[in-house]
Amino acid sequence: MPLIVFASPKGGVGKTTMAVNIADAMRRNGRRVLVIDFDPQNTLRLHFGVPLSDTAGFIAELPKRPDWRNVVRQTPSGVMVLPHGAIDIRGALGLSSALERDPELLAAPLRSIMADPGLLVIADTPPGPSHALNLLAPMASMVVAVLLADATSAALVPDIDNGRFLGSGTMAALFAGRLRVVLNQVDPNSRLSRAAAETVARHLGPRLLGAVCRDEVVAEALAAQRLVQDIAPNSRAAEDLREVARGVEAALPAVPDTLQAGWGAR
Ligand SMILES: Nc1ncnc2c1ncn2[C@@H]1O[C@H](COP(=O)(O)OP(=O)(O)OP(=O)(O)O)[C@@H](O)[C@H]1O
Ligand SMILES: [Mg+2]
Repeated sequence: MPLIVFASPKGGVGKTTMAVNIADAMRRNGRRVLVIDFDPQNTLRLHFGVPLSDTAGFIAELPKRPDWRNVVRQTPSGVMVLPHGAIDIRGALGLSSALERDPELLAAPLRSIMADPGLLVIADTPPGPSHALNLLAPMASMVVAVLLADATSAALVPDIDNGRFLGSGTMAALFAGRLRVVLNQVDPNSRLSRAAAETVARHLGPRLLGAVCRDEVVAEALAAQRLVQDIAPNSRAAEDLREVARGVEAALPAVPDTLQAGWGAR
């Protein structure tokens, strides 16, 4: 039932990396986890070893209101993955207007997935504002904004702080309480990176769930189509990711044992 959304005002900061590796860590902690890729780049699946040639996903069937269960992949990690699916520019534009007219196209199947109280759903979104983020934020238990430890991110903190990142006026006020932040690619050897991380940490207090260091194993894991805990469990990044997962876990309601089976348990 709980939905955690990974988002960021800025692209290329590590949203997808964070979403998949936190999903993996939470699965290892005993959760049943489904990750959904809402980004038309359709790359999330690669982290779980789904072949590049396999481009199927939920998006192509969306206008027909399909049962998404048919497109869910069981992966060796134990995490279930619902890929976005490949879509060309004409399809993407058509879909964007369809969603503007009828957000239920996306909201209805999502609600049906979230009706399973024992399932943790993690959503990855495209950078910046998107239909997906707009729709997911009100349904989410937590929106995790991923930021880099640099000057641009420090400048974006006020938007995170008051919820403006997810809306304006009352909407912003409503969502501000659900926003958490993770800093990514922190370089302990860089004065600027350290200073930016300290500034953000001081400002956000407990809303900062943690920080992940810049570590080549993270990029190597993606190149190998594996997860960080698989290829380098003793690395600094793996330790940081486990720590962030603990922070996320601590902020979520506990799952009773009786709810450990259900949707997607096949
Ligand atoms: N902590 C890290 N250390 C080293 N490299 C990292 C780290 N986090 C992410 N990367 C690398 O940075 C690149 C971008 O990461 P990712 O694709 O997760 O970002 P994103 O925010 O999802 O991007 P987009 O906005 O395009 O969706 C990838 O090559 C990834 O391997
Ligand atoms: Mg991404």
